Amino acid sequence: MALILAIETSCDETAVAILRGCDELLAGEVWSQASLHAAYGGVVPEVASRNHLAALPGLVRTALRKAGVQLDGIDAFAATSGPGLPTALLVGMAHAKALAIGAGRTFLAVDHIEGHLYSPFFGEPEIPPHLGMVISGGHTLLVDVESYGACRVLGSTLDDAAGEAFDKVAKLLGLNYPGGVEIERLAREGNPARYDFPRSMLHSGDFQFSFSGLKTSVRYLLERESVSLPDVCASFQDAVAEVLVKKAIAAAQSARRSVIAVSGGVSSNGRVQALLSRHASEAGIEVRFAPRELRTDNAAMIAYVAALQLGAGGGSQLSVDVHPSFDLQHFERNRPGAHPSTI
Ligand code: KG4
Ligand code: ZN
Repeated sequence: MALILAIETSCDETAVAILRGCDELLAGEVWSQASLHAAYGGVVPEVASRNHLAALPGLVRTALRKAGVQLDGIDAFAATSGPGLPTALLVGMAHAKALAIGAGRTFLAVDHIEGHLYSPFFGEPEIPPHLGMVISGGHTLLVDVESYGACRVLGSTLDDAAGEAFDKVAKLLGLNYPGGVEIERLAREGNPARYDFPRSMLHSGDFQFSFSGLKTSVRYLLERESVSLPDVCASFQDAVAEVLVKKAIAAAQSARRSVIAVSGGVSSNGRVQALLSRHASEAGIEVRFAPRELRTDNAAMIAYVAALQLGAGGGSQLSVDVHPSFDLQHFERNRPGAHPSTI
């Protein structure tokens, strides 16, 4: 069974994981820089990359120690190549490439969205056909997946990602970053029917999302009247959840998939989970959620995709560069074994 060391530095989490095969997680270190960025109300790219650089060597050593393996026992080194912050991605990619060159082993570049997308199946040797919904701070995607690497994006967001909408509304409400958890906490005490926020693009007839209008409605409301914070949180959360859930079910039905797999930070939201579970069960659809610790950014999901890639005979050229933006063609063409191994 191959031993893979994976590095994730696409945003503000510095993470290292060591995985044996595709199911034995020997180490999964995640250092969140969130508190360093909280003062700025969002992630500052240069602060993130400088801290990735400072933290990575120590995290790699810790992961190796916890896994009880030496560097020369690792068979392949993987890193997130994108999407993400360019300077942050560069740090992890350069680190993994250097380790691969030093140890004379294979290097694997892994797409961050694939990491999230396949995380609900972590540990399984094959990805079954399903409808994937990635709802994170950076992305909102509905993806029709036939098997690992064979997928088609059915819809994405035209503006803010779902998590970004939570974060921006939290900022408007004077709550801490990242805002999703704070909004959910306050929403528990609130009345979701108090404010009638728009369900943007619910009836657009496609699988696209838009959350910026919803954010603007919250802003106008705050400018207009003094509000009940828990009621705003509950009403906003319901508006996001309803659109996400109804579009996911419609996409699964249109693609004739009987499983919906949900990943990304927003998949931790209890209201999204409950609403999706209820509607999916009514529609005869099974729902899989990513394991809790794999919902926000981590390196275990990157190691898992690297293992699937390796199993399919993949490997990346050392010349492969970071790809900061989500590129649909790149994503859908990201087939296993597409890149010949260099080492
Ligand atoms: O997956 P992730 O690390 O983001 C990216 O890779 O971009 O998830 C972070 C996002 C943040 O926007 C955060 O506010 C949101 O997930 N989030 C939540 C919850 N927990 C995290 N949103 C709503 N409810 C939650 N419980
Ligand atoms: Zn992510």
